[in-house]
Amino acid sequence: MQPKSPPNPGRRKFLITATSTVGAIGIAGAAVPFISAFNPSAKAEAAGAPAIADISKLAPGEMIIVEWRGTPIYVVKHSQESMNEINKNLERLADPDSNTEVQPQYAKNEYRSRKPGISVLSAVCTHLGCAPKYYPQLGVVDFDSDWQGGFFCPCHGSKFDLAGRVYSGVPAPDNLAVPPHYFKSDDILVIGEDGDIA
Ligand code: FES
Repeated sequence: MQPKSPPNPGRRKFLITATSTVGAIGIAGAAVPFISAFNPSAKAEAAGAPAIADISKLAPGEMIIVEWRGTPIYVVKHSQESMNEINKNLERLADPDSNTEVQPQYAKNEYRSRKPGISVLSAVCTHLGCAPKYYPQLGVVDFDSDWQGGFFCPCHGSKFDLAGRVYSGVPAPDNLAVPPHYFKSDDILVIGEDGDIA
C-alpha cells in the first residue's frame, strides 16, 4: 500500500522551516504550530515603524511571533475551549482584574485583548526578561497539575495564563505587557500603533 500523502504538503514544509526559528526564540513544544509573520525592514524598524502581521492563517490554538522594535511579540488565537476556560482560574492570578499599567486602555478587559479570541503579548517575562514558553494545552503538565493553558517561564518558574496574567506566588511581579496594536482588517494586525481608539 502506498503511504498517504500529507493533507497539505505546502503547509507542512512551511511549519518545518519555521521550527528552527522556534528554538531560537524559545517556544515550547515541537507540537505547537508556528507561523512566520511580516517584519518591517531594518531601516523602517530603526525608524520605529510598526510591525505588520498577516494572521489569516492563524488557526485556533496557534501562535505566531512578530518582532517589533527588537522585541518578540506573541500573537495567539485562542481555541473556543480555551476561551471557555480562560476566566475560570481567577483565584490563582495575582491581578485577576488586570488593572496594571502594562496594557493600553483598550486591553483592560476580561480577556486583556482588543479583539476577543486574539491575545497580543510581549514575550518578555516581567521577572528578569526570559521568554516564557507557550503551553496552550489544558490539564496536567510537568509544572502544574491543573493547567488552564498559558505561558510558563522556565528560568525561575513564573506562570501566566492565556491572557498573559501572572499567577500569584511566582517571581514575576506583573502581567505580560500588551503592546499598542490595532486590527487594520480581520486578517491584518498592526503592532506599534493604537490606530483609531473607539
Ligand atoms: S525571568 Fe521569568 S521567572 Fe525569572
